[in-house]
Amino acid sequence: MASYNIIALLTCAINYLNSVNGSNPTLNDVLFSGVYEFIDLTFPFDKNTIYWPNMDQFAFTKMNEAFRSDGSWYAANNFAAGEHGGTHIDAPYHFKVDGLRVGNIPLDKLIVPLIIVDISSKVNDDPSFVLQKYHLDYMLNDNWGKPCVIVFKFGWSKFFYDRNKYLGVQPNGTFHFPGLSAEVAEWITSSHKNVVGIGVDTGSVDPGSSTDFPVHKIASAAGLYNIENVKLDVPVPDRGCTALILPMKIALGTGAPLRLVAICPKQTPTHF
Ligand SMILES: *[C@@H]1O[C@H](CO)[C@@H](O)[C@H](O)[C@H]1NC(C)=O
Ligand SMILES: *[C@@H]1O[C@H](CO)[C@@H](O)[C@H](O)[C@H]1NC(C)=O
Ligand SMILES: [Zn+2]
Repeated sequence: MASYNIIALLTCAINYLNSVNGSNPTLNDVLFSGVYEFIDLTFPFDKNTIYWPNMDQFAFTKMNEAFRSDGSWYAANNFAAGEHGGTHIDAPYHFKVDGLRVGNIPLDKLIVPLIIVDISSKVNDDPSFVLQKYHLDYMLNDNWGKPCVIVFKFGWSKFFYDRNKYLGVQPNGTFHFPGLSAEVAEWITSSHKNVVGIGVDTGSVDPGSSTDFPVHKIASAAGLYNIENVKLDVPVPDRGCTALILPMKIALGTGAPLRLVAICPKQTPTHF
């Protein structure tokens, strides 16, 4: 006990001296000290990118790609796409008439601590899995406090390049893949006001079979955004990372393609 108190006192004293001295490390000092790594949680946008069915696919049109007469190279292309495909954000306006559009989501909700909830071992590749509150009992007594985004790992990213498998396309054209229950969405939005967004490594926060999208509605109503098709096929610490959630700033967008990056300590800490 006593030695902990001394360490705490010393830590306070050092922090105080540093702040008095004005020599607090800058973010650059911290980020590039060699103990952090950048992890890309984004699927590339190309002909394989999965879109929600009513959306235009990613169209990439080569316009100019040639050496010119003076030997110099010039290349420029066009692209076009629906808002909701690949790794993307859903703005609250997607399911709430007076919700924020993509262009108005403030940066302090987009650069936040990242919590990964890995339930892939419970899902066990079962497309019928629907996340219930009891799956998360171990988190009920946490005390996060800070704004954060919570991303649920169903273990689905490994199917991304097989559209039929990823979406669980049924003979009648409906989908079948895991998702959150309405109960879990209610619990997050009512009990964890610090959560500013919900993410999944599937095509939708609602299960694939959903036709009324309760999780989308509950999240939007509470002002949360969703991030969908998060690329979670690489190891990411479940605590201690910072998420950079940087959608294309489509001013009036209901959603937008997203570059999602996690800045993570190379060693997993026990808290952030
Ligand atoms: C105060 O800053 C100077 C210059 O950066 C440094 O040499 C010194 O060690 C600092 N003192 C403390 C107490 O942090
Ligand atoms: C489509 O088929 C699935 C089973 O493959 C079934 O559960 C679902 O109710 C069907 N939906 C419609 C709209 O026919
Ligand atoms: Zn979406």
